[in-house]
Amino acid sequence: MTSNMDKLIEAKFAAAPVVPLIEASDPAVAVATAKALRAGGLDVVEVVLRTDAALECMSAIISESSDIVVGAGTVLTVDHAKAVADRGAQFVVSPGLVDDVARFCLDRNLPFYGGTMTAGEVQRAYALGLRTVKFFPAKLAGGVPMLKALSSVFRDMRFMPTGGVSADNLAEFLAVPSVIACGGSWLTPKAAIEAGDYDAITRLAREAVALASAARS
Ligand code: 3PG
Repeated sequence: MTSNMDKLIEAKFAAAPVVPLIEASDPAVAVATAKALRAGGLDVVEVVLRTDAALECMSAIISESSDIVVGAGTVLTVDHAKAVADRGAQFVVSPGLVDDVARFCLDRNLPFYGGTMTAGEVQRAYALGLRTVKFFPAKLAGGVPMLKALSSVFRDMRFMPTGGVSADNLAEFLAVPSVIACGGSWLTPKAAIEAGDYDAITRLAREAVALASAARS
């Protein structure tokens, strides 16, 4: 079933098909990073559960930036999925495909992008009822040729390549019609964040938006 949130995210991806990852330990830094991305035209972000304060960081963005769609990434277990859903995550991303996590999200109408890199994993996602999956780690898993091969058989599956995507190859991935959006950490470099250089983040976001619109036009 397509939820309202699916529709909202699809509309956002139609405008800017890029999902920046935010890995933060300080809620104020997370909010500043999300706002810098938003200023550059990216308003769908994935906060990864890789720090002790990740949940607080996600909640802070949700409460301070109502114009940003905030998802949770690196969601490994159903407990993680419950925790992020309870805090208002608007979508869930996992590096791999765990059926229980997928079912939990489907039950809650929470868009879920589980990681896949083989035909077997994509088929399992399909059987679970998923029609959009993460393709991870996109570059190492065969990149564009592998995506094209998977797309030729899974005709109504859409992919979110993540892992090794950057400004250098974003356009190639987005040129594949089954790609709904690309995710990645290249938009939020640690050095810029540590230096408080949020303008650099905004510039990277703008560059990604321009590359995406050229690739899709
Ligand atoms: C992920 O969580 O999807 C990956 O860590 C992102 O990979 P990247 O750092 O190469 O963008």
